[in-house]
Amino acid sequence: MAENRIAKPFLKWAGGKTQLICDIERTLPTNITQTNFTYIEPFVGSGAVLFWILNNFPKLEKAVINDINGDLINTYKTISSRPNDLISVLQILQDEYYRFEGNEDNKKCYYYQKRELYNTRKEEQIVHAALFIFLNRTCFNGLYRVNRKNEFNVPMGGYKKPTICDKQNILAVSKALQKVEILCGDFEQTLDFAEQNTLFYFDPPYKPLSDTSSFNSYAKDEFNDSEQIRLKHFCSKLDSLKHTWILSNSDMKGKDKNDNFFDDLYSDFNIQRVDARRIINANPEKRGKLTELLITNQVSSKKYVRTI
Ligand SMILES: C[S@@+](CC[C@H](N)C(=O)[O-])C[C@H]1O[C@@H](n2cnc3c(N)ncnc32)[C@H](O)[C@@H]1O
Repeated sequence: MAENRIAKPFLKWAGGKTQLICDIERTLPTNITQTNFTYIEPFVGSGAVLFWILNNFPKLEKAVINDINGDLINTYKTISSRPNDLISVLQILQDEYYRFEGNEDNKKCYYYQKRELYNTRKEEQIVHAALFIFLNRTCFNGLYRVNRKNEFNVPMGGYKKPTICDKQNILAVSKALQKVEILCGDFEQTLDFAEQNTLFYFDPPYKPLSDTSSFNSYAKDEFNDSEQIRLKHFCSKLDSLKHTWILSNSDMKGKDKNDNFFDDLYSDFNIQRVDARRIINANPEKRGKLTELLITNQVSSKKYVRTI
């Protein structure tokens, strides 16, 4: 039964934050979460932090999520409003896909047919959302990458029997999303939804550590340095309006200890370096330990050591 299930992310997503949750928890200002509060996540992706907040903070009054990826947001909205219809379509896709077990050529053909159908963006909302989840579950490493024409172009992955239709989780997610406002667009629009006691968590596309390590193509428009700077200005504005925020990003010093891009940009705020493992990386050797940044405009009630 859905009532007994804890909602968890229904997608694999580059930059998924499951490993970072302990550090985020340590950084959370308790004065916010001990009274009724609003949670806003302007770059929601697969929502690892969102679901953790929804499951663990009874004082949460309302959450607002946003992403620029319209296909992703269509999927959130579909799960929220029509979970059972979505499950029916996913079940068909899963049954059909599993039938090709042992016949790689047919399986491949099916995958590429569905990818083409998805890229027409002509299917109705529920079918489009089901195709989005299907591709996420069956493509290479759960990547979401589109070309300039917004065509999803990730090849098929090598999973034997991926779960395409996780009925219990979709029902649990749908239930959890009932107190969540779901928006599609640029991160700046979320300011309109901030109330008095609001916590923002920003997980923007990370600044790539190198040209080849780029995870930066979730959407057809690139999130470049000037976007990182625009985000910092937005954070400063929130700070002057007395809203609390936490932001994660890559630690450029991991590659070059003289790279002060974020240290300079966020010099007015609290910067911590925390261990993080990336789960999406084609090369297993690069899945090792890395540090990333957690930046906040508040000093946490739980002490942390600033190690710059
Ligand atoms: C690092 S991912 C978020 C990962 C997520 N927190 C998780 O746990 O999976 C960054 C997200 O930002 C979105 N994005 C990129 N540019 C944006 C913009 N200008 N405004 C809002 N969202 C944007 C991307 O579509 C992507 O889903």
